[in-house]
Amino acid sequence: MKFFVDTADMAEIRDLAETGLLDGVTTNPSLVAKTGRPFLDVIAEICEIVPGPVSAEVAATDHETMLAEGRKLAKIAGNVAVKVPLTRDGLKTCRVLADEGTMVNVTLCFSAAQAILAAKAGAAFISPFVGRLDDIGESGMGLIADICEIYRNYPHFETEVLVASVRGPQHVVEAARLGADVATVPPAVLRQLFLHPLTDKGLAAFLADWQKTGQSILGDKSAEAAE
Ligand code: E4P
Repeated sequence: MKFFVDTADMAEIRDLAETGLLDGVTTNPSLVAKTGRPFLDVIAEICEIVPGPVSAEVAATDHETMLAEGRKLAKIAGNVAVKVPLTRDGLKTCRVLADEGTMVNVTLCFSAAQAILAAKAGAAFISPFVGRLDDIGESGMGLIADICEIYRNYPHFETEVLVASVRGPQHVVEAARLGADVATVPPAVLRQLFLHPLTDKGLAAFLADWQKTGQSILGDKSAEAAE
């Protein structure tokens, strides 16, 4: 399973990229607005740090303008995935960009029917928003299960299921259980994945016992220097 981070915050991206566990980045207009920085600069900078797909969303809603914006965004770097909304014009734009060899992430997916259309339009990624469905009392993970099952029935679909609007570690684990290809995760949730209280407790006990041995794996550096 691939992990993308869902943020436009450069400090967060740099920090998480250092773990070697980051496969890509997703942004959206709301996340870019939070940075207060020029959009194109932010995307270019992220693409320099993360070699995997970096989603950059168009701002227009009509096909012609979306296509022009998408082509401009795609020129920033080879790893840009142009993000388009799941609308008729969005999917029309997806088809053209995909045929031109550009990765497209179709966003704001809330139904299995929409996911089928995105796959037919040649999307590299479909982004179902699980948290926002849970928020209105529907099952976000139910939608992921439906899409994964449907895509498996059509092996020629190359679209990857990118679980978006993730609210906590349980969403990530459930997405992995269902076989989703990618989870895009807010930085705070990505950090939570590392944690378990028994890991901390176990490590503290091991370190205390190691201390009692009086040994050092790297040896006595000052003694070595004196030799
Ligand atoms: C995905 O690409 C979106 O940017 C994101 O996951 C939306 O999540 P939200 O519902 O927490 O805003």
